[in-house]
Amino acid sequence: MADKIHVLLTEEEVDRRINEVAAQISEDYAGREIHLICILKGGVFFTCELAKRLTVPVSMDFMSVSSYGAGTESSGVVRIVKDLDEPLEGKDVLIVEDIIDSGRTLAYLIEVLKQRGPKSITLCTLLDKPERRVKKQVTVKYTCFTIPDEFVVGYGLDYDQKYRNLPYIGVVELVGK
Ligand code: IMP
Ligand code: MG
Repeated sequence: MADKIHVLLTEEEVDRRINEVAAQISEDYAGREIHLICILKGGVFFTCELAKRLTVPVSMDFMSVSSYGAGTESSGVVRIVKDLDEPLEGKDVLIVEDIIDSGRTLAYLIEVLKQRGPKSITLCTLLDKPERRVKKQVTVKYTCFTIPDEFVVGYGLDYDQKYRNLPYIGVVELVGK
């Protein structure tokens, strides 16, 4: 049976908020270049929407890390599945994530990327679930939405690899599970 999805944030609400955050980032980075790092796969929709709205020069790279299995709980084990193609030396790096939950993925990632000599590393996330944070040292400069502790899908976020393509953000009601 199909899972029921309750809309948490509509496509219009997400769109409007990305416009605001992109304007803020463009202002903060005026006169500089941003090296966007998209965290696959979940960050891909947000990264594209954000990148299109930035008015400063942008370069992009992609990285894939795994911290979750097929369920909804963090395993605490982070593994680089696909590394970056470009060096980070001297760059103003902006990491773009779909959601920050326990913070384990980013805490690990930031440590790894710092070793590569970027000029700066800043975090930008579509969603943040601060109640769930385990790694308190992870500070996010740009957050589109702070949400309660619920498992969400859409706009890149999946449940068991499904629902990434939904144009809105919703909460799944697991039917018959
Ligand atoms: P963290 O390491 O616990 O912060 O987990 C971050 C990653 O877990 C995100 O990049 C997502 O891939 C996944 N994740 C955490 N919460 C959710 C959720 O509510 N829906 C879908 N994926 C989630
Ligand atoms: Mg992710």
